[in-house]
Amino acid sequence: MAKTNPLPEGLRFYPGFLDRQQQERLVDQVRDVVTVAPLYVPVMPKTGAPMSVRMTNCGPLGWVTDKDRGYRYQATHPLTGKPWPDIPSEIGAIWDAVADYCKPPEACLVNFYGEDAKMGLHQDRDEQDFSAPVVSISLGDTCLFRVGGLHRKDPTRSFRLESGDVLVLGGESRLRFHGVDRLYPGSSTLLRQGGRINLTLRRVNP
Ligand code: SIN
Ligand code: FE2
Repeated sequence: MAKTNPLPEGLRFYPGFLDRQQQERLVDQVRDVVTVAPLYVPVMPKTGAPMSVRMTNCGPLGWVTDKDRGYRYQATHPLTGKPWPDIPSEIGAIWDAVADYCKPPEACLVNFYGEDAKMGLHQDRDEQDFSAPVVSISLGDTCLFRVGGLHRKDPTRSFRLESGDVLVLGGESRLRFHGVDRLYPGSSTLLRQGGRINLTLRRVNP
């Protein structure tokens, strides 16, 4: 999608929202989170098929998925059983700057994409409160992001998310289908080993 095309109502794109120094600080903070709450391989409900991203969370609640209990939020890491670490203040500050919502985020999902990872088209709909937006922060390698409509078969459009970009899915776009088609390995020098980190901030309860 050409960046000049108007985005659908409620989808707000902030290219280059974070400068390099801010991005580096966020990566350090994500490393601290991962030290306490290690990345793990999530699996799809029912089939148990592994997803290609690795995941963890910070915040009072974390989004998890497994074979038997499916998609849900819970207060503890599925492997360590410990509470998720707090959302680092600089990450919370991004929500404060762009979410236009009266309450803080409760969940920050951390997705790590290796060079072959992707994420199929899906809706974020495990929350109780759809009036709050979803705020997505990209760090590291560029990806090709796809956004569609409110039905899976609706037409989609794709655009690149680069390191430091922030995307908000709110209002009429809160429940739009979206996914990540691919990474562009080597497109960023932010992560020494390459790959991409996506931070997704969400409000779960009204
Ligand atoms: C997601 O929708 O959970 C992740 C989106 C992204 O990685 O940009
Ligand atoms: Fe999502």
